[in-house]
Amino acid sequence: MTPSLYNPLVLLIVIILAPAYPGAKIIGGHEVKPHSRPYMAYLQLRKGSKLFVPYCGGALITPKWVLTAAHCEMPIASGQFLQAVLGGHSLSKYEKSEQRLRIIKQIPITKFNNRTMKDDIMLLQLKTAAKINQYVNVLNLPKGGINDMKSGTTCTVAGWGKTKISNYSYTLQEVEVKVIDRRTCNSTYYYNNRPEITKDMICVGDSKGRRNACYGDSGGPLICDKKYTGIVSFGGKDCTDPQKPGVFTLLTKKYIDWIRSVIGLPLKDAEELY
Ligand SMILES: *[C@@H]1O[C@H](CO)[C@@H](O)[C@H](O)[C@H]1NC(C)=O
Ligand SMILES: *[C@@H]1O[C@H](CO)[C@@H](O)[C@H](O)[C@H]1NC(C)=O
Ligand SMILES: *[C@@H]1O[C@H](CO)[C@@H](O)[C@H](O)[C@H]1NC(C)=O
Repeated sequence: MTPSLYNPLVLLIVIILAPAYPGAKIIGGHEVKPHSRPYMAYLQLRKGSKLFVPYCGGALITPKWVLTAAHCEMPIASGQFLQAVLGGHSLSKYEKSEQRLRIIKQIPITKFNNRTMKDDIMLLQLKTAAKINQYVNVLNLPKGGINDMKSGTTCTVAGWGKTKISNYSYTLQEVEVKVIDRRTCNSTYYYNNRPEITKDMICVGDSKGRRNACYGDSGGPLICDKKYTGIVSFGGKDCTDPQKPGVFTLLTKKYIDWIRSVIGLPLKDAEELY
């Protein structure tokens, strides 16, 4: 998650430089049952055999495509490449279930604007198709898109991001959060229209600010009512301010249409996720 620019100290840079930034966890959550979210990917920069700290998450939507946030676009120096790691649970050891697949293309819907934070969505094309098995599987997109989610709806989000501002966590974490209505989220004591919380965004959190996504969770999927609903985008600077809840890209029809046009495939509906 990217902190909002309008808070002091906050920077997209934290995410962009994430490989050098020791950290990543969900706030107030708990470890997931290993491999219970077989669509989860973490994104990692690699140079030779050197692996950097994961900088973002994502979801496998077909065997050759991962969906993530546009602010996760990563400049790649020569000799480096990006990979999506699927079927992983722990970052601290190699697991036989892992598939490390090279990313050959980063396709944001449009150049990401870190002032408006709009359209924070990006497709990643994999060089080889993931092998679908008990550890790795796709997360189906909501066929016609999601127009909105009622406030109070319970959702979950998972990631390898920060659990606290200073500690590193090694296993996939998840947390339950609730939808906060857009008007509240965009109002004076919340984001105050800076940036505007648009109809293509959804706010989630917890009234006490104890549960949220945080740095390093960006790009990961938000699941509400068993549907793939959103993508981790941004939040307040320390991820625990109840008036700066998590803001996610909402998977509206316009985004589903864009995904279809890029990957050129019809997508199955996903009433049953698990
Ligand atoms: C926001 O984007 C502008 C233009 O691309 C860039 O110069 C600036 O460094 C970015 N700011 C942050 C905080 O990433
Ligand atoms: C978190 O940081 C504290 C202080 O450095 C350390 O004692 C503790 O073991 C750390 N926990 C984890 C899970 O790394
Ligand atoms: C957000 O708040 C601003 C200022 O009150 C308002 O102009 C804008 O229409 C609001 N946006 C939405 C999507 O409600």
